[in-house]
Amino acid sequence: MPSKIKGTALVTGAAKRLGNMVAMHLAKQGYQIALHYHRSKSGAMSTQKAICKMGRRCELFCADLSIEAQALTLFAEVFKAFPNVNVLVNSASIFIPNQFGALDLGLFKAHWNINFKAPYILTCEFARLVQKGHVINFVDANAVKYKTGYADYLMTKKALLEFTRMAAVQWGPAIRVNGVSPGMILAPVNGQPDDRARRARQIPLCRTGNPRNILQSVQFLLENDYLTGQVIVNDGGESLI
Ligand SMILES: NC(=O)c1ccc[n+]([C@@H]2O[C@H](COP(=O)([O-])OP(=O)(O)OC[C@H]3O[C@@H](n4cnc5c(N)ncnc54)[C@H](OP(=O)(O)O)[C@@H]3O)[C@@H](O)[C@H]2O)c1
Repeated sequence: MPSKIKGTALVTGAAKRLGNMVAMHLAKQGYQIALHYHRSKSGAMSTQKAICKMGRRCELFCADLSIEAQALTLFAEVFKAFPNVNVLVNSASIFIPNQFGALDLGLFKAHWNINFKAPYILTCEFARLVQKGHVINFVDANAVKYKTGYADYLMTKKALLEFTRMAAVQWGPAIRVNGVSPGMILAPVNGQPDDRARRARQIPLCRTGNPRNILQSVQFLLENDYLTGQVIVNDGGESLI
């Protein structure tokens, strides 16, 4: 493990699942971790313990990213605690099935606030306060498709994909903005159907992916400093068909 500190990474939704694995990976790579969570306090605390055991500093930041005021203050709080923050990973999101026409505006607002507005606000604040840094947005391989089963979710990821590219144009050269678009990596939560095995048989690589593949993409984006506005689609070819 590198002993030299490379800076600090704010990772949203980092108490569990992919965000958690990214936070652990970045800690191993030499970053201090500003670990954002919302409800998963125990996961956040045990991750903090594991990162501190590595000899890295890790502080916890609780924020409900569906609430604009909390999204607006989160980055300033992180910057105050870690003036060397230089990486932002926007991973927190919600993923709830719905179709246009149901007009569930509560769900519409929750998707937009958490999946798009929060990364937008955090990136703006990051670019305002950080002199040189890198933003990585978690998009979705399906963001280039037109499936309607998770309509509000998909619209927010389409917006995040385009925001990633436009933000790269606006904030270069000081800030690089890239993304990762996972395909079938982890099973959905909250009792949603897990039909990945069946769907995976129909994609070019005929299998689901592994979180390790996502960490490899994150690492590649971090290391290749001539990349900005790029979103690596890690989906076994799913988005091609
Ligand atoms: N998993 C996959 O295979 C896959 C596929 C395609 C795209 N992605 C994208 O990759 C990213 C990570 O995926 P994942 O499946 O690991 O994530 P996830 O389990 O869907 O969610 C990650 C975290 O988002 C946080 N979150 C939810 N509502 C929040 C709120 N109101 N305020 C603040 N945080 C909130 C939760 O934090 P707490 O638990 O602390 O409340 C949760 O742990 C997401 O952006 C997702 O869209 C994942």
